[in-house]
Amino acid sequence: MNRKDDIVILGIESSCDDTSAAVICNGFLKSNVTASQKVHEAYGGVVPELASRAHQQNIVPTVDQAIVQAGISREDISAIAFTRGPGLLGSLLVGVSFAKGLSVSLGCPMVEVDHLQGHVLAHFIREEGKTRDIPQFPFLCLLVSGGNSQIIRVNAYNDMEILGQTIDDAAGETIDKCSKFMGLGYPGGPIIDRLARKGNPKAFVFNKPHIEGLDYSFSGLKTSFLYFLEDKVKEDPAFVEKNKEDLAASLEKTVVDVLMQKLVKAVKMTGIKSVAVAGGVSANTCLRNAFLENAGKKGWKVYIPPFSYTTDNGAMIAMAGYFKYLDRQYCPLDLPAYSRTTNK
Ligand code: KG4
Repeated sequence: MNRKDDIVILGIESSCDDTSAAVICNGFLKSNVTASQKVHEAYGGVVPELASRAHQQNIVPTVDQAIVQAGISREDISAIAFTRGPGLLGSLLVGVSFAKGLSVSLGCPMVEVDHLQGHVLAHFIREEGKTRDIPQFPFLCLLVSGGNSQIIRVNAYNDMEILGQTIDDAAGETIDKCSKFMGLGYPGGPIIDRLARKGNPKAFVFNKPHIEGLDYSFSGLKTSFLYFLEDKVKEDPAFVEKNKEDLAASLEKTVVDVLMQKLVKAVKMTGIKSVAVAGGVSANTCLRNAFLENAGKKGWKVYIPPFSYTTDNGAMIAMAGYFKYLDRQYCPLDLPAYSRTTNK
């Protein structure tokens, strides 16, 4: 492919522990290559220094693969989109610096992408020969990942408003930590999901937060889960092993109930019944079922992303970059990465 008027966006994602690169051509995904980092499993969580070192090893082959698989040459690239933040600073610096270097060498513009905006715009990734429902504006998006839990009103590709967010821990982080308390592996989300399918969600009752408005809080649930386990293990050291399915199902149900309660409130407040879910936790079976249930009972039009676009990926960054490129929203070379949205 080398038509001059083609718009070819290379997207680079390196905000946490996945190095990912993707190519979007005229709005259609051509490649999406991800190098995951197994090194963190032994530590039960992402170790920032190890993550940035692994990104340094992975970035060149990952970007190279994305270009080769897309069937393009570097000279075809119209712009480089990269995750500028939020995320782990050491990890972000690898992707941001690489994007800057490549943009200078190719003489093409750069487009900065907010990681969370990328997750939302994953709903617009199109693949040749595949059809899927794409949300109409405005819609609400529940963004639930390892680092964020937000309800966003999406007015347009580049116009989003946060209606509510966690005031402490994120839903994914809570599930991961509780899984660690139970002595399960990392990341805990998929393990809890698998165990929960065989458990009773009503077996144990955990405290739900009472927070005003549309904000979330999960730190109290995390602490009460830990104290509950400590008390039970004192009585019976094999308590977790005997009850892991029920514990997983009850924990998962509590998290999903909290998430859905505020989302139902947001739908009532805004009158917007088009509701999407995005981020790593959107792969969760109980959460997906809750969405489908609301579609049936409350008449919501729901949008659930394919599994491949729930966790961190370069495709969503390339997609968000494509929409910004169409708006000519380029960025200067001296933009720093940011770890938190408030540090931007
Ligand atoms: O979006 P993501 O890949 O990275 C961040 O930007 O944070 O999300 C990772 C989070 C982790 O907390 C992981 O445990 C969770 O998504 N997760 C799940 C499932 N798959 C991944 N949580 C619950 N159920 C799942 N099936």
